[in-house]
Amino acid sequence: MANASGLVAPTLPSFRRRFSPSLGVYRSGFWFCHGVSRRTVCSSAAQRAEKLSPAESKARRLVSKGCKLVGCGSALPSIQISNDNLSEIVDTNDEWISVRTGIRNRRILSRKESLTAMATEAAQKALQMAKVEPNDVDLVLLCTSTPEDLFGSAPQIQKALGCSHNPLAYDITAACSGFLLGLVSAACYIRGGGFNNVLVIGADALSRYVDWTDRGSCILFGDAAGAVLLQVWLSCDSEEDGLFAFDMHSDGEGQRHLKAGMKENNTDQELATNGSLLGLLPKGSSSYSCIEMNGKEVFRFAVRVVPHSIELALEKAGLGVSSIDWLILHQANQRIIDAVATRLEVPQERVISNLANYGNTSAASIPLALDEAVRSGKVQAGDTIATAGFGAGLTWGSAIVRWG
Ligand code: ACO
Repeated sequence: MANASGLVAPTLPSFRRRFSPSLGVYRSGFWFCHGVSRRTVCSSAAQRAEKLSPAESKARRLVSKGCKLVGCGSALPSIQISNDNLSEIVDTNDEWISVRTGIRNRRILSRKESLTAMATEAAQKALQMAKVEPNDVDLVLLCTSTPEDLFGSAPQIQKALGCSHNPLAYDITAACSGFLLGLVSAACYIRGGGFNNVLVIGADALSRYVDWTDRGSCILFGDAAGAVLLQVWLSCDSEEDGLFAFDMHSDGEGQRHLKAGMKENNTDQELATNGSLLGLLPKGSSSYSCIEMNGKEVFRFAVRVVPHSIELALEKAGLGVSSIDWLILHQANQRIIDAVATRLEVPQERVISNLANYGNTSAASIPLALDEAVRSGKVQAGDTIATAGFGAGLTWGSAIVRWG
């Protein structure tokens, strides 16, 4: 099992060895607050900072590179499928689906629409909100498990956006945790230096891998894209930094509960028995099977790991649950969202959910929910958001971020 901890990671003694104790900030822009209230540490650090000469204090602040979430956008396919529509193709009904999942509608890409175009539209809206030109983007991260090119679709989005100054663009594959991982990666790139504007896009078209005869899974998924622009913020105060802390994990043991593996090709084996070299070589038209899911196991997994992950991220940030203005979880099942909120004791009015309209849109679900909440005025600049992704891999993780 892999475990990536948040950037507020070094132990106290090692931190003291490596950094001057006079200021509670290090080059990543994170305050070091293990086991102590973050606000307490920050205020005492601020008192110490006041004793520094202006030049000294400015120099120290300039090496602190934070990030800011400055723009978001989303895009949806044109075809809407209701629970009643689904009941025409599988043995199900609106009541069962809405009671067990909270989902009422979902959007599906038509055969004429493309994931790349949908992701590009979401990214354009994020750039417009941020008032950033495509040529000022340094990096495009496309978080998707359903690219339209085996080698990745991000460079096509870079091209479609008109980023003619050639930023780096590549795909990240981590199913429904993809956007969370992309967000943390973007913040790390910015903190490392050399990247000022990083576009993180979550986009998926799982409808292309759904078994439309399996009522246990086809009712869950929809297609969508969402994007967030992260921008470097020099000399920022830790209280204003865009990413306070994070917690990320993966566990290949759990893959058997949720997968879409490569299809076995029987023709290849028949040819191989003939002994010809051509028969031993894989056929040049490999494909993936439809999504196979043990819903009960995935449900148990999500309810077990997500609250724990958020608690770990909050601890690393030195924050309590009461500091959370909004909880934005991967939108998989309303019962999962409710269970996590109850366990964390986050009141319902602080939980963002748009699952009823779109179903589980995989890597798109978090940025889509964020975008709607920002544009409707719910999420305001300065709000603290606890967000968590979980899904195939298995992968899961959480981040405590600040909007705007
Ligand atoms: N309509 C009507 N009946 C149904 C349907 C349906 N669509 N689906 C299943 N049933 C039946 C079952 O056959 C079963 O009948 P039985 O009791 O006669 O055997 C009964 O309903 C109960 O089925 P369960 O599978 O036990 O139902 P459950 O309450 O577990 O809900 C669900 C199933 C909605 C899939 C739930 O387990 C779930 O949401 N799990 C999490 C899945 C998830 O989030 N996956 C995505 C992860 S993200 C990613 O990375 C892709």
